[in-house]
Amino acid sequence: MKEQLLAIRERAAQELSSLSSLQTLEEFRIRFLGKKGELTAVLRGMGGLSAEERPVIGALANEVRTFLEGAMEEKKAVLLAAERDAKLANEVVDVTMAGRKPQLGKLHPLTQVLNEVKDIFLGMGFSIAEGPDVELDYYNFEALNIPKNHPARDTQDTFYVNDNVVLRTQTSPMQVRTMEKQKPPIRIIAPGMVYRSDAVDATHSPVFHQIEGLVVDKGVTMGDLKGTLETFIRQLYGEDVAVRFRPHHFPFTEPSAEVDASCFACGGKGCRICKGEGWIEILGAGMVHPKVLSRCGIDPEVYSGFAFGVGLERIVMRRMGISDIRLFYDNDMRFLSQF
Ligand code: DAH
Repeated sequence: MKEQLLAIRERAAQELSSLSSLQTLEEFRIRFLGKKGELTAVLRGMGGLSAEERPVIGALANEVRTFLEGAMEEKKAVLLAAERDAKLANEVVDVTMAGRKPQLGKLHPLTQVLNEVKDIFLGMGFSIAEGPDVELDYYNFEALNIPKNHPARDTQDTFYVNDNVVLRTQTSPMQVRTMEKQKPPIRIIAPGMVYRSDAVDATHSPVFHQIEGLVVDKGVTMGDLKGTLETFIRQLYGEDVAVRFRPHHFPFTEPSAEVDASCFACGGKGCRICKGEGWIEILGAGMVHPKVLSRCGIDPEVYSGFAFGVGLERIVMRRMGISDIRLFYDNDMRFLSQF
């Protein structure tokens, strides 16, 4: 039995030194010291020993157990340290490695040009007004001289929320809202989204942007309208651009005009971008209708004004040579990063 114990001690010591994980260490413990372990089995056999042998073997068995327990403690400490070192080595950060450059975003082309337009008008003493996208029928149509059943309503396929509430089809309601709140002199632009029940194609979107302009004061004339809009168009497209005013009709201005710029691509000779015309339509404008003024409590005998409405997408497309309006809303980085 003594040999048996010594053999166990030797084999255990050998095995222990070759263990490489906490998991195998636990298996080792069970195999030698567990209820069915080798050392335990030997101790169980002590019942058959003589009275002289029993204390000697008992003492030896205890010594072997103490030895194994101590050796296992030491091994466990070694394994824990190794595990921690491995973990640290794994998580090491090389602070000398080159960093990954964060991708910088930039402003959407519509925002870029809108900012330019704002700057141009701020420079001429305008301020910027904002109003609701969900608008009363009264402001979007009625107060602008477009009563129910007026044919002008047909050209603006409207999203109705109910009989009295619409998604604004134009930024022109901001003329009325401004004049109700503010007495002349008035000089504002009102950029924002507008909504029309249009089918989507290369030049139509049910949501797009307009920039409204309004000037009201004593003695404002068509000459002021022409001067202001020519200045705007030249600052936007360049000093060499020719500007043309064509008579037109809008219910809320009288007289009304559509304003064209000579094609920036061909200089007026006619090309693909201006569809051979030499001119590109930029905006609608006119002298504020006396009825619109008086409905807002401004005396048309004392004051006069002009107004204009610019389609933002259209001027950005023309200026940047973009042929499909849908590209603005696709959020495709390959497109957006070009501007
Ligand atoms: N609101 C018009 C439209 O959406 C554009 C417009 C024309 C605005 C003439 C004006 C204006 O202020 O005077 O078609």
